[in-house]
Amino acid sequence: MKVLVCGRGQLGAELARTCPDSVELVHLGRDALDIADAGQVDRVVAELKPAAIINAAAYTAVDKAETDADAARAGNEVGPANLARAAANNGSYLLHISTDFVFDGTANTPYLPDAPVAPLGVYGQTKLAGEVAIAESGLSHWAILRTAWVFSALGNNFVKTILRLAADRPKLTIIADQIGSPTCAKHLAKTCWLAVNHQLQGIHHCTCDGVASWYDFAMAIQELGAARGLLSGTCDIAPIRTEDYPTPARRPHYSVLSNASLREQLPEAPSVYWRKALAEMLDELANR
Ligand SMILES: NC(=O)c1ccc[n+]([C@@H]2O[C@H](COP(=O)([O-])OP(=O)(O)OC[C@H]3O[C@@H](n4cnc5c(N)ncnc54)[C@H](OP(=O)(O)O)[C@@H]3O)[C@@H](O)[C@H]2O)c1
Repeated sequence: MKVLVCGRGQLGAELARTCPDSVELVHLGRDALDIADAGQVDRVVAELKPAAIINAAAYTAVDKAETDADAARAGNEVGPANLARAAANNGSYLLHISTDFVFDGTANTPYLPDAPVAPLGVYGQTKLAGEVAIAESGLSHWAILRTAWVFSALGNNFVKTILRLAADRPKLTIIADQIGSPTCAKHLAKTCWLAVNHQLQGIHHCTCDGVASWYDFAMAIQELGAARGLLSGTCDIAPIRTEDYPTPARRPHYSVLSNASLREQLPEAPSVYWRKALAEMLDELANR
């Protein structure tokens, strides 16, 4: 089965290294395929005629998006719309990745896929517009996996930022009143391959198990990182409130996603507690 993977970020890299032997992988970064370029998308997909497309490309700079809305829209709305049209024209299945930031974070129980959406910023608005573009494209075989707080040994993320800052600074303050589920890109990638194999349909959520605040996450990174020799010395990490750390984009206070529909549709999808997944990632960094 030929599969086109778009995007060479954290998830794109993990999709490449978890690709099943049965898949003929065509993995294109922005240099070879800009998903916002309609003509290029049409040409590349018509030429490759992939059985499936996985879209791991996105504009992910949440704060920058507030002042760079056109670029965010190009990557997150126009790109998915282009891929959906090309997939429909060539009979391809489309798996797209979206975000917890489509929700406003006012819930206090895990969000189900059909919970009301109300993004707080440009990133979430454009990601939601990308979901809508796919759902309304007329494409018959597609799925969207919403994920959250993604980390991987490959690429830039919160884990690597904390390791760097905790090594350099005597004290860090980290937000403790935003709650979510840190998610390992490797396990997300494995679920993507299962989704393609089973032609999963509709919108589902896919995160690691368990919840944390950014503060809890940072404390775990410090503890597990130090145990693996990735940190020396001691950095004092203190909890703060969202209002004590103003950012251009507002973020949901609670963005825990329910994985229940995914578990029902794909029972064999990996189910991993986030701390265990974090330990695996840090093992990988330590063994490099
Ligand atoms: N990271 C998170 O915490 C998080 C949380 C929730 C959901 N998600 C979603 O998960 C998915 C994967 O995220 P990730 O963490 O792997 O992101 P990432 O590491 O930022 O990678 C995104 C990749 O997309 C590429 N890209 C952007 N615009 C493109 C375009 N027009 N054409 C082709 N490639 C383009 C970027 O290339 P450039 O470097 O050239 O821009 C980058 O390589 C995304 O859909 C994201 O919205 C991520």
